[in-house]
Order: sequence, then C-alpha cells, then structure tokens
Amino acid sequence: MISSNIEIAENSIKEFIRVLIPEIKDMDIEANFKNKCNDIVLELKVGDKSSIFYYENLEEKIEDQKIIFLKTSLLSLFEKKYPWGGLIGVRPTKVLKRLLISGYSYEKISEILKGLYLVSQEKIELLIAVYKKEIGILNDRAQSIYIGIPFCPTRCSYCSFASFEIGSPVGERFYKKFVITLLEEIELTGQLIRDNNCKIESIYIGGGTPSTLTEEDLEKILKAIDIHIDKTNLKEFTFEAGREDSITDRKLEIAKEYGVDRVSLNPQTFNLEILKKLNRNFNRENFDRCYNKMKELGFIINMDLILGLPNESEKEILYTLETIKEYDIENLTIHSLALKKASVLFKDLNRNVSELNRIKVEDKVKEVLKEKGMEPYYLYRQKNSADWGENIGYSKPGFESIFNIEMIEENQSTIGLGGGAITKKITKVDNERDDIIRVINPKEPATYIREMNERFLEKIKLFSK
Ligand SMILES: C[S@@+](CC[C@H](N)C(=O)[O-])C[C@H]1O[C@@H](n2cnc3c(N)ncnc32)[C@H](O)[C@@H]1O
Ligand code: SF4
Repeated sequence: MISSNIEIAENSIKEFIRVLIPEIKDMDIEANFKNKCNDIVLELKVGDKSSIFYYENLEEKIEDQKIIFLKTSLLSLFEKKYPWGGLIGVRPTKVLKRLLISGYSYEKISEILKGLYLVSQEKIELLIAVYKKEIGILNDRAQSIYIGIPFCPTRCSYCSFASFEIGSPVGERFYKKFVITLLEEIELTGQLIRDNNCKIESIYIGGGTPSTLTEEDLEKILKAIDIHIDKTNLKEFTFEAGREDSITDRKLEIAKEYGVDRVSLNPQTFNLEILKKLNRNFNRENFDRCYNKMKELGFIINMDLILGLPNESEKEILYTLETIKEYDIENLTIHSLALKKASVLFKDLNRNVSELNRIKVEDKVKEVLKEKGMEPYYLYRQKNSADWGENIGYSKPGFESIFNIEMIEENQSTIGLGGGAITKKITKVDNERDDIIRVINPKEPATYIREMNERFLEKIKLFSK
C-alpha cells in the first residue's frame, strides 16, 4: 500500500516495482512531498529503510515530476542501478521528445535524464543521437501501410508475433482464403486512401514471414497493391522476407518488379545448433544464395539478430557478430531476447537463458558498426525487462527506414491490413499530446477472414473523422 500527501495512481507504481524492484512488491510505502525553496523534497520510507531525497522543482514543465521522482527515489533507496534508470516504457525517445517540446535544451535534458530519471550517460547519448536522426525524417502529414502475413515455415519457440506454421492445420485450412481476403482488403484500402486523400509514404509487408507466400500469391498481392494503392508519395517499400528457407530467386524478382526496394534476411544467430533447438531451419549456403540474389537485384538489405538466445554462449554470439561482417548490408537490427507469454519458450522457463558478458558483447557490436559505418537510428525497449532489454536499428547514413522510425515514434497514422495488423489514427491534440485510436485486425486467419469487412468499416469511420 502507498500512503502519500499527494494523489498517486497506485497501479503505475506497482508495475514499476514489479519490473524493477520486485523484492518490495508487498511492502508498505510512505511518501511525503514538500516544496522547499526551488526543490522538491521527498521523505520516503519503505519497510525499515528510509531516506530524504531532493530535486530541483520542474513541475511547471514536467507535470508528473513527483511521480517520476518517487519511482527513481525508490531505485536509489534500494541501490538499484539500471542503464535505463527509471525509464521502463517501450519508447524512451518519447520522453526526450516531451522534454524538448517543453522547451528544454539538449544540455538541460541530459541533466534531467541523469539526475531525475537516473539514466546512464551512455543511454542518454544514444537517445539523443537517435532522436536527432529521427527529426530529419518524421513527417506527420503522410501515412503508412502495414500488411501482416501471419504464416511462417515453422514457429520459432521464442516468438510471440502473429504467426502460424504454413503446414499446420490452420495454415492448410485458411492460407488460401487468407490471401483472397487480403486481396479484397487491399482493394478496399485503395478506396479509403482516395476518399481521405491519404499520402502513403511507406509500405511494409511483415509478419510472420511474408516470403512464405507462394510465388503466385506474392505476385497477386503485389499486383493488387500496384493497381489499388496510390504510390505517388511512396518513398520506400519493404518486403520482410526474413527466413532463407522461404525465399526463392523468383520471389525476389517479383518483389523487385513491383517496386519493393528493401528486404530483410534474418540469421538471428549464425549458430546452427542453437537455431535447430529453437525450431528454426537454417542453411548457410542457401542464406548466402539469397543474399547474393538480393545484392544482384539492388535491394537495401536488413539483417536481424537476437542476443541472449537460450544456451548461446558468449563465444557463439561473438562468432555471429564476426560473421555478420561478411555481408555488405545497409541495415542491421539487434534485438535482446524478450520472452513473452505467447512464445513456447516462455512456457518452458526452466531453460537456461545465457548470462552474457555484456561489456565484451557490446564492444564487439561497436566494432561491427564501426567497420560497417552504421549508426543507431531507431530504438525501442521491451516491456517487462529490467536489464538489457532494448532493440536498436542501425543503418548506414541515408538508409534509415522511414517506416520503422514512424512506427516507433507513433508520429504518423498507419493503415494495417492482414493478420494482426494494427491501424492507428494519430491526431495531434496539442504540442505535447497525441490522440491515438487503434483498430486491430485479428491474428488468427479464420477470425481475420470472418471479420475483415467489419473491421474495415471501423477503419473507414476512423479515417473519415
Ligand atoms: C516479426 S519477426 C519477423 C521476421 C521473420 N519472420 C524472421 O523470423 O526472420 C521480426 C524480428 O523480431 C525479432 N524477434 C522475434 N521474437 C523475438 C523475441 N522473443 N525477442 C527478441 N526479438 C525477437 C527477430 O529478430 C525477428 O527477426
Ligand atoms: S521469428 Fe519470424 S519466422 Fe520465427 S515464428 Fe516469429 S515471425 Fe515466424
């Protein structure tokens, strides 16, 4: 229980404690605030620990300063040091953006992030570098399209995304009808775009694994996009091919013919045994063949890696990072493993998730990036993750993905099509706040097929407001 002389939404503090200081989750907290000269003073007592904390009063610009201060003072009281301090949100750049809009300089923001939020110097520099890249690209007068293909060759045991094995009963029964429904949805979307004068700046076909589509169906889908979606304002078109075991030369050629300019080819790790245990096929020769074909066709290539896969040793991770140097790619996305309830692995928590020597791995990442001339350009953190828990997209300058930036910043409205796709209508309320309304397409193909039209009516209502 929390007792205080200010109003506190207990749930937000509870969530913070659950993630960052779980050992005090059942303790009573007493928090009394005073304003003294230019400072806020907090007298804090938890169990038999107590202390007094001070911080400059910034409430004129940071309305919820006392709540933030209470959270990070709890960290200090229990001597918890995290690289991201008290920032547990998925989008830490939003905090930076808010402070900028309030009128603070980058220098003052660094001071606030360090002193109030307890963020490490390294993460502050990362946040500022990423945000400075993003502001040159963000454009809230355009929109994007996301198309979710919820099928994969096999389901990787760490994954919680919308995905069904193509050879499973769901895949066998609903794949064909899914494609037909998606074709209808593309046509409807074309009308929606025309009716609302939308300016589509980026298209992203993701999933799942979109390259699981047959060559014939891929062509039908890309053709439908070509016919129905106005591409006058289009700046990038991504086809997240992903898995080498689903890609053929012809699929890449079709993608190229219809204007795709970005593709992904994701090793996750180059250690075969690890991938096998995660139910993910991997053939290095075929991977190289796909890579060479992608290069030949002139695509901008992204590769995804995951750090912290179960039982993967530091040596093996360093090997993966060394191997990635062999590929001349424009984008690299490095994820930290996050185990969510929808993944098979979450249900098997007894497995050993490797303890890594973080410094060595981070040094190796820096070496790879330096060699490739890549810089961070978007980042997001995983919920429920106290420690490492961040995903960072790196790119060679000029090759940043607009879609990824817009998606993470929630700056631009998105029309989502296909399985599990989220449509977001974003309206600026004022300088600091956005109003975000979502329509979520069902993940399960059967429900998507049944409900697509109904959901589409919601999208029409949303965009005609
Ligand atoms: C939606 S998945 C699609 C990519 C494609 N199907 C593939 O597997 O190559 C996008 C990326 O999320 C990452 N990912 C998936 N599950 C994850 C997890 N549990 N923790 C961290 N990253 C994860 C992987 O790097 C993956 O490439
Ligand atoms: S990681 Fe990719 S291939 Fe594996 S299950 Fe998830 S979406 Fe499918």
